[in-house]
Amino acid sequence: MAAHLIREWTGIQQFPTATKTKLFDFLGKLKQENVSTLTILVMGKGGVGKSSTVNSIIGERVVAVNALQSEGTRPVMVSRSWAGFTLNIIDTPGLVEGGYVNDQALEIIKRFLLNKTIDILLYVDRLDAYRVDNLDTQIVRAITDSFGKEIWQRGLVVLTHAQLSPPDGLNYEDFSSQRSKALLKVVRLGARMKKQVMQGSSIPVCLVENSGRCNKNDCDEKILPNGTAWIPNLVETIADVVSNGGRGIYVDLKLIKGPDPNERGKILIPFILAFQYFFVVKWIRRWIKDDMPPTWE
Ligand SMILES: *[C@@H]1O[C@H](CO)[C@@H](O)[C@H](O)[C@H]1NC(C)=O
Ligand SMILES: *[C@@H]1O[C@H](CO)[C@@H](O)[C@H](O)[C@H]1NC(C)=O
Ligand SMILES: *[C@@H]1O[C@H](CO)[C@@H](O)[C@H](O)[C@H]1NC(C)=O
Repeated sequence: MAAHLIREWTGIQQFPTATKTKLFDFLGKLKQENVSTLTILVMGKGGVGKSSTVNSIIGERVVAVNALQSEGTRPVMVSRSWAGFTLNIIDTPGLVEGGYVNDQALEIIKRFLLNKTIDILLYVDRLDAYRVDNLDTQIVRAITDSFGKEIWQRGLVVLTHAQLSPPDGLNYEDFSSQRSKALLKVVRLGARMKKQVMQGSSIPVCLVENSGRCNKNDCDEKILPNGTAWIPNLVETIADVVSNGGRGIYVDLKLIKGPDPNERGKILIPFILAFQYFFVVKWIRRWIKDDMPPTWE
């Protein structure tokens, strides 16, 4: 297999100076904590803006953005290095196919991640959607079953299309906080977290606007409707999650294949013995008692 190509992170130089300064600060902070490599896994349904978010963070058009549902079917890892720091971002295909969680896509993603450590999970959805349903919970459950509950200690919910006008004259803050709460509830249910655990770990929510029409501040930074420059805000939140502890998730064969099948077999033994007792031993006993040969027909 060819060595993975790590290119110089030229995109970071393209950001407005104000953004660049803040990004250098956060990366410096990570380096102080001996974090010199950061691997970010981006997951979610199709068409929610995963690829656009990857491009925004890198500051280059590195992955093709397809507005239609038919995205690529394979994960793509983009690696950039700057001053001894390496950023890997893994864009993944949408996790839904025909109204169900696409287990095959998930399987491909898991195999792609073999021997890699996931430092951060960005779970992406849109801010401008108005409901969550059971499918959302199923997606979170599938991610949890694949990588373990611990992945949510390194998780962020990212909501795209943040530059919107809420419907029915709703106030923007109210609308975005309601949508955030709905998504966090989905994560809690899908990850089978107890309410207290969820509150204790408090998964952050970041708003994102990848569109070229995104408003900018005087420093030419892309901003959210409340004036916050969102790229530094997202990177700072990522740095905080990394600093707050928990460990990255190392994806090994055991994680990919699930529990050892031999161990699984052992669990079945008591059931097999019980089955033999009820259906074989009892039947023989009755046969002896009745003193009648069993009929095989
Ligand atoms: C980072 O590594 C250096 C040298 O190995 C060590 O002295 C320092 O304590 C480490 N810092 C943290 C936060 O682990
Ligand atoms: C993953 O690591 C294992 C053990 O270190 C090694 O045997 C295997 O070849 C590696 N697989 C890939 C795809 O890198
Ligand atoms: C603006 O909104 C973002 C995302 O919700 C939030 O993180 C930030 O603190 C807000 N900024 C201000 C100044 O309210």
